[in-house]
Amino acid sequence: MSFTVTVQPSGKTFTVERDEPILQAAIRQGVGLPYGCRDGACGSCKCRMLEGRVIHGVHQQKALSHEEEGAGLVLTCQAAPQSDIVLEARTVPGAGEFAIRKLPSRVVSISKPAPDVAIVRLQLPANDLFQYRAGQYIEFILRDGARRSYSMANAPHTVIDTPQLELHIRHLPGGKFTDHVFGAMKEKEILRVEGPFGSFFLREDTDKPIILLASGTGFAPIKAIIEYMIWKGSERKAVLYWGCRGRADLYLNAWAEEATARLANLRYVPVLSEPKPEDDWHGRTGLVHEAVMHDFPNLLEHQVYACGAPIMVESAERDFIARCGLPDDEFYADSFTSEADKHGP
Ligand SMILES: Cc1cc2nc3c(=O)[nH]c(=O)nc-3n(C[C@H](O)[C@H](O)[C@H](O)COP(=O)(O)OP(=O)(O)OC[C@H]3O[C@@H](n4cnc5c(N)ncnc54)[C@H](O)[C@@H]3O)c2cc1C
Ligand code: FES
Repeated sequence: MSFTVTVQPSGKTFTVERDEPILQAAIRQGVGLPYGCRDGACGSCKCRMLEGRVIHGVHQQKALSHEEEGAGLVLTCQAAPQSDIVLEARTVPGAGEFAIRKLPSRVVSISKPAPDVAIVRLQLPANDLFQYRAGQYIEFILRDGARRSYSMANAPHTVIDTPQLELHIRHLPGGKFTDHVFGAMKEKEILRVEGPFGSFFLREDTDKPIILLASGTGFAPIKAIIEYMIWKGSERKAVLYWGCRGRADLYLNAWAEEATARLANLRYVPVLSEPKPEDDWHGRTGLVHEAVMHDFPNLLEHQVYACGAPIMVESAERDFIARCGLPDDEFYADSFTSEADKHGP
């Protein structure tokens, strides 16, 4: 048995099989809906149901509270229709553009630009171009079937000549996958990946100035977006804010500084929340999203692309919209949720 989902105001329709989450069916049929974690943790897929009935699978209250559910909001990644339904949701042109594929990949190199950050390069099959948008992510499919998501840090055009993906992976001690990356992972290891996923990429139907906001390894997809803009010769005004704890955590600071010379209208503002005396830091300090609000008290005409720690992404979305007038449909984000977020308070 299948049900029909209609998305308003675009009028797009697609079918969902019994017990299948709406988002899974949309991705399968190339319909672009907004989403992030695909796992009920980030809230990026939240939208309003205008008609119909759904049953929600496990999800975080932070992503969808009881009150929101009562008010007719749904998480498409966790909601299985029980009838035909009508949703009110932004459609994301380009999100379903490239087929999602499962591929074998081989670890080419692992470097450690900071004590808890690994840059892993993955070789993809040659003669089989892997296409994606700068900002999207892949999932590793682990032996026990668990999945872990990582954003591509290199822009798609770089893969044409060298079929490799660059990933920036932060160690979460006790974490199933990153303990392996920082422990036993060796060059030549074979890993299964699936992708590309995600709706976090540059919207190019406007020239609005952009704020690129990263915390920690949230820099990875932002780097890919900047590489893409350099390749395209983009003239859009952009300011990159990269927030980390200490100086060593700005693991590609030189790259970011050089990017401002290669992209005409890019500025770069690193922000440290806990600089140590030995960092000899004379730059900005504090919370990175507060640095943005200090510099841009009015974000009415901007787009914001934010990526990294869930707390940073949530604070930025809330405060930019409430205090700086950012239109809520101009905030684009990938929140790096993990098991801790799914099982936490
Ligand atoms: C769209 C997306 C893109 C992402 N991109 C990146 C990226 O580019 N770079 C990056 O570094 N990360 C990224 N992440 C995060 C990444 O997918 C992983 O969640 C992260 O690397 C942790 O994986 P892990 O297996 O090591 O840890 P997990 O096994 O998820 O554990 C994480 C932490 O939670 C603790 N924990 C485990 N289970 C529980 C439990 N039941 N209760 C409480 N605590 C628990 C662990 O001890 C550990 O400290 C992304 C996430 C998403 C959703
Ligand atoms: S909660 Fe649905 S995509 Fe994250």
